[in-house]
Amino acid sequence: MSGQIACEALDPVGARLDIDLSVPLDADQQDELRGLLAEHHLFVLEGQSLTLDDQVRVMSIFGPVSRNEGPAGVGDFVSRDTKEGGLASGALAFHSDLAHSPIPMIAISLHALDVTPGATSTMFVDGARTLARLPQDLQDRIDGLEVWHCFPTNTPEQFRTFGAPPSEINEALPLEQRPIVMEHPRTGEPVLYVFPMMTDHVVGMPLAESDELLAELFSYLYEPGNIYEHPWKNGDVVIWDNIAVQHGRRDQHDVATRLLQRVVSAEKGFYEQHPNMVQRGGHAVLADY
Ligand SMILES: [Fe+2]
Repeated sequence: MSGQIACEALDPVGARLDIDLSVPLDADQQDELRGLLAEHHLFVLEGQSLTLDDQVRVMSIFGPVSRNEGPAGVGDFVSRDTKEGGLASGALAFHSDLAHSPIPMIAISLHALDVTPGATSTMFVDGARTLARLPQDLQDRIDGLEVWHCFPTNTPEQFRTFGAPPSEINEALPLEQRPIVMEHPRTGEPVLYVFPMMTDHVVGMPLAESDELLAELFSYLYEPGNIYEHPWKNGDVVIWDNIAVQHGRRDQHDVATRLLQRVVSAEKGFYEQHPNMVQRGGHAVLADY
């Protein structure tokens, strides 16, 4: 079943695919696409023209599609204009969607419908590849350690208060303890699974030591050569494995137009996993807050 889909590996993350996603894929092509995502973790495609229904069909190849979900009120669109979609204009620190929930999302897709060409981007880092590149002594030090992933504070910048004392964690909000080296739930591949938006501290480690260790891991994850920054132009599609690859973005206040169509695969959506949370004013808040 190999070779039907033209695929060129990219450095440092992902692969460029040459296939028209507006045409339904047959069973063999769908198998191949799943295999390619397990291998490359991220796809870049150009010149696509996908309706929302097309994009839902594509993402259902990887798992159940979850609509109108997301802790920040993200629906089917991400836009500069909050009337069109969620996430507005602030920077977003690197993260993996729903890492703070029992079941993180499987895969995410963005399709540029109307963007100012070359003016806006999304950044990606491969946690599996980064782990494989870590010095052995650092791999030994993180072996068996776990971290808390917390719900990002609803600040305008959506930045998690990295380094905040554990006493500031509100246990009523989504909170999940996970290994630093997480086994990918589908492929079994080990992934370095920490990020500044959500990872608060290493379980059972003095805070200063924990901050130092996380900063050291971040220095490998976010060194310039390890980040793929995708410059959006109309028709682009990026699809990524939300566990193996983490994502973030720069501040978008100076970007005139940024309308991206967004469809995700997820076993369970955010509100399904957190019945004590509701969406209010474009943010997820505690229902009784
Ligand atoms: Fe996200």
